[in-house]
Amino acid sequence: MPMDLALQERLTARIKALRDARSTDLAAATYQLPAADYTDASLLAREVERLFATGPVLAGLSADAPAPGDWFSFEACGRSAVLWRAPDGRLRAFVNACRHRGMRVASGHGHADGVLVCPYHAWSYDREGRLASMPGRAGFSDVATTDLGLRGLSVTEHAGLVYVGFTPGPTGAADLGGAEAELVGFDLASYHRIERREHRFATNWKLTIDSFMEAYHLHFLHAETLRPIFHGNLSAFDAFGRNCRIVGVRRSFDALEDGGGLLPHVTLLYQLFPNAVLIYQQDHVELYQSFPDPADPHACEVRVTLYAPQAPTGDRERDYWTRNLDLIDDVTTTEDFAACEKIQANLRAGAVPFLVLGRNEPGVAHFHRTLHEVLGTNSKGAPSCT
Ligand code: FES
Repeated sequence: MPMDLALQERLTARIKALRDARSTDLAAATYQLPAADYTDASLLAREVERLFATGPVLAGLSADAPAPGDWFSFEACGRSAVLWRAPDGRLRAFVNACRHRGMRVASGHGHADGVLVCPYHAWSYDREGRLASMPGRAGFSDVATTDLGLRGLSVTEHAGLVYVGFTPGPTGAADLGGAEAELVGFDLASYHRIERREHRFATNWKLTIDSFMEAYHLHFLHAETLRPIFHGNLSAFDAFGRNCRIVGVRRSFDALEDGGGLLPHVTLLYQLFPNAVLIYQQDHVELYQSFPDPADPHACEVRVTLYAPQAPTGDRERDYWTRNLDLIDDVTTTEDFAACEKIQANLRAGAVPFLVLGRNEPGVAHFHRTLHEVLGTNSKGAPSCT
C-alpha cells in the first residue's frame, strides 16, 4: 500500500477545505531571504563542507543496484563513490579511486560478480574492497598489497533510499524525520531504473530545489504545460524534521468522491534534505538531485532519474518511458530551471537585496531555515553568533 488509507483520507479532507476556502497551507509569516544566500562564495564553501563532503547525502535508490553484483557510481561536488551490492544483499561503498594511480574504478552503473577492475591498468578489487590482483606484479614487488584496498565509506539503505558519507569512517544515518514510515509503503526497492539524465545550469543549486517547493507558480510559469492538469496555489505541506512532503493537487481531484483513493489525483513530492526531491506519481517515480559546483555559487548540476514499477518488456514500453522523461525534462529544463537561471543572473547583478517568500510558500521557507540551522549560519549566510 503506497500510502495508508487513513492518511489519504486526512489529506483529502485537508485539501478539500483548502480548495473550498481558495487557500493553501500557509506559514505563520512571510520570510525574507537575502540574495547573498545564492551568491556568497563563503556560504557555498560551508555548504560543500558541511552537506556534501561529509554527508550523509542521498546517492540514489536501492533500485540503482537491485541485485548482488550490481554497482553504481555516485559523484557529488568533485567526490566520487562506488556502491556495490554484495552476495549477502548489503551495499558496500568505497572511495572511487584506484590505489595505483587514482583512476576512477567505476563510472555509471553495471554488474560485476567477482571483482571490480580499474580500466587504466586493470588492478582489481574484491567485494570487500581488497586489492585482488594486478598485472605485472614484479613491478610492485616492494609494496604490501594489503595496504592498497579501496577506502571504505559509510552507506545506509532504508526505505529504498541509499545515503553515503564521503568522509571515510562512520557518518551516521540520514535523519528522515519520520518520512520513512510513508516512504516504506512505496516499496522503492522494487522499482526499475529507466534512465538518468544530467544537466548543468547557470544557477545556484538551491534555486533548483526551491522551484519544486510550491504550487504558486504552476498557473503562470507553466501556463501552457501544467496549468491544464494542476490546481494553482493549492498544496498541503508537512515537515518531517529536515525533510518535507508537499502534495500537489490535480484538477481531477475535484471529481474525487468520498472514500475514493487520493493518490491518482495528487503528486507526492518529498524533499529529502539537503539536495534531493523524490516525486511519487501514480505510475512512476522521479528523483531529482541538485549539486553545487564547488567552485562557483552560480552553477550547479541537476540529475533526473526516472524509475518505473516494472522493467520495460520491449521497445514499445521503452519508448513510452523515454517520451515520458522527455516531457518531464522539457518542462523542468525550459521552464523551471530556465527561470532559475534568470533569477540567478539578477541576484548576481545585485538587482534585489532579498527575496520574499510568501506564507503560501512554506516549503521553500522550511528548506532555507533548515539549511541555516544545519550550517550554523544566520539568515545572512554568516556564521551564527549564538
Ligand atoms: S590507475 Fe588503476 S590500475 Fe592503474
